[in-house]
Amino acid sequence: MLSYRHSFHAGNFADVLKHIVLIQSLDYLNKKDKPWCCVDTHAGPGKYELDGDYALKNREFDNGIAKLWRRNDLPDSVAHYVSLIKRFNKPDQLTRYPGSPLIAKQLLREKDRLCLCELHNTEIKLLTAEAKKDKRIKVFHADGLKSSLTLLPPLERRGLVLIDPSYEIKSDYQQVVETLVAMHKRFAVGTYALWYPVIERSRNRKLERALQATGIKNMQLFELGIRADSNEHGMTASGMIVINPPWTLMAEMQQVLPWLADVLGDNGEGFCRMETLVGDG
Ligand SMILES: C[S@@+](CC[C@H](N)C(=O)[O-])C[C@H]1O[C@@H](n2cnc3c(N)ncnc32)[C@H](O)[C@@H]1O
Repeated sequence: MLSYRHSFHAGNFADVLKHIVLIQSLDYLNKKDKPWCCVDTHAGPGKYELDGDYALKNREFDNGIAKLWRRNDLPDSVAHYVSLIKRFNKPDQLTRYPGSPLIAKQLLREKDRLCLCELHNTEIKLLTAEAKKDKRIKVFHADGLKSSLTLLPPLERRGLVLIDPSYEIKSDYQQVVETLVAMHKRFAVGTYALWYPVIERSRNRKLERALQATGIKNMQLFELGIRADSNEHGMTASGMIVINPPWTLMAEMQQVLPWLADVLGDNGEGFCRMETLVGDG
């Protein structure tokens, strides 16, 4: 049974990085006229109430979107991200946070498509209501790691797959690697963005080594940490591993990540990683 609810975590430092990478990647696809398809394997409910009980329990957004919200010195891609979040809020009142489906929806053009998978019985109802009758969006009450394979390659032959599991089950770490290999076989030119938490660094080293051993080329890693690695303090960092990233992404993240580490890090402990895990040669 699934117990994870992203509403407890919405808008935290991990969402900031994840959603900036998502926006940068979709903006890049929008540079060409040709249509694209975005597949979100773990879509969540679509949007979150930051003034609701779940989000207020630990107020994780305080060390994420809330710290960026009012600043006027944001780097360009952070400013763009914040401007999309502001569209869901009244001026000067941060009460809503859009999840990946509603962020992606804002960047969809008339001919682009969004495919959303979600397994949780409650979240799928909320998500379906959010997608409403938008013909560009399809919602699947299904296991995103398995059923998204049937959506690839997309008709458009251009697009992004966002893989954002909750890692409730430890086997998720292995399953995402197997899924990425299968997806890449079907759609080698697609961009893949895999989110990961850092809770116990040894698991991340294993994940990175497993991905490097797949033979898939052109893989970059972007990580934002708010405090030093520790096995005792929950999630201390998180990152995105991007296959076939926009060629502009590394330079963009080199501007943004050190800044975010400085602003969101705990007592000067923030850090970041920007690495090419596998080159494209
Ligand atoms: C981290 S949350 C997603 C957050 C969302 N992508 C966002 O950025 O707003 C992970 C979601 O995956 C769902 N989930 C867990 N296992 C799944 C699976 N095998 N297939 C599809 N959804 C799953 C959970 O119910 C949860 O809503």
